[in-house]
Amino acid sequence: MEKTQIVVVGSCNTDLVISVDHLPAPGETIIGYDFMTNQGGKGANQAVAVARLGGTTAFVARVGDDGFGRQSLELLKEEGIDTSHVLLTPGVATGVAMIPVDRHGENSIIVASGANALLTPQDVEAAGETLKAADIVLMQLETPVDTLIRAAQLAREGGAKVVLNPAPFPKEPLPQELLALVDIITPNETEAGMMAGVSVVDEASALQAIRNIQALGVKHVILTAGSKGAYTVADGTLANIPAVKTEVVDTTAAGDTFCGALCVALGDGKDLTEAIRFANSAAAISVTRRGAWRSIPKRGEIGN
Ligand code: ATP
Ligand code: RIB
Repeated sequence: MEKTQIVVVGSCNTDLVISVDHLPAPGETIIGYDFMTNQGGKGANQAVAVARLGGTTAFVARVGDDGFGRQSLELLKEEGIDTSHVLLTPGVATGVAMIPVDRHGENSIIVASGANALLTPQDVEAAGETLKAADIVLMQLETPVDTLIRAAQLAREGGAKVVLNPAPFPKEPLPQELLALVDIITPNETEAGMMAGVSVVDEASALQAIRNIQALGVKHVILTAGSKGAYTVADGTLANIPAVKTEVVDTTAAGDTFCGALCVALGDGKDLTEAIRFANSAAAISVTRRGAWRSIPKRGEIGN
């Protein structure tokens, strides 16, 4: 049987990470502990998760023609990812994320988009054959929305399912044109709250948020909820697929690992609930390790 082709369209960043006791308040300067330069970016993290968990993947992205960009490109290739559509962009920096991580594993992230902001609809058109040949196209919101709309159109033309991880959630509502092309959306509690106009604090509000998002035109909503796992609505009722209980070191890329794993499991023919279970298992491993790519598990580490 031919393997499922999962194409990821999105960002590639270099993460500058400092361990701290607590995340700084506005105006506060704090002294942290160690510093790490890590591979990251929501798009790249999700492509790496797909590759490590056994999926076949191509990545559509832009990096700067600088040290960070060339290093990312090399390392993506080493992961077995098809990088034919990862473009080196002269005169612009590779995306960078500054990430303090506190002693509970919680983070805040500031992204300087750099080359990610220059990924155009023409770029995804140049990858049109790859997008049309995909079974699943996975995207996030660290690249321009008009580019994602074009990618989703091409994906749909070829019959692929479109999965959107709506992170980071923008100030403006997502255009209907994009939502109409999305099969599965995976907001976390904050993103679901922003999309749905509901503050997600318990199961009743999670259900309301999912229903409101469905009313925007997306059939399948998977609301990720950190240590509570994930929620979805099956046959009109809320289902909680619990997280795997584990020690938390750093949650960076937990959501990305979840999304990559979800797509691999769907590609393997698992139903939505089973795919979420697999995604919870993979993401739970990622929170026990520091960093983004470096925290993402390989298939053999997952029990189910
Ligand atoms: P992040 O931004 O930290 O990458 P996120 O905010 O996008 O993550 P979350 O809902 O916090 O998304 O986490 C995604 C998934 O990761 C959860 O659905 C769960 O499977 C797993 N996860 C996150 N935190 C924990 C935890 N403390 N214990 C076990 N699993 C966790
Ligand atoms: O989701 C985690 C990622 O968000 C980090 O790797 C960082 O690059 C930002 O894009």
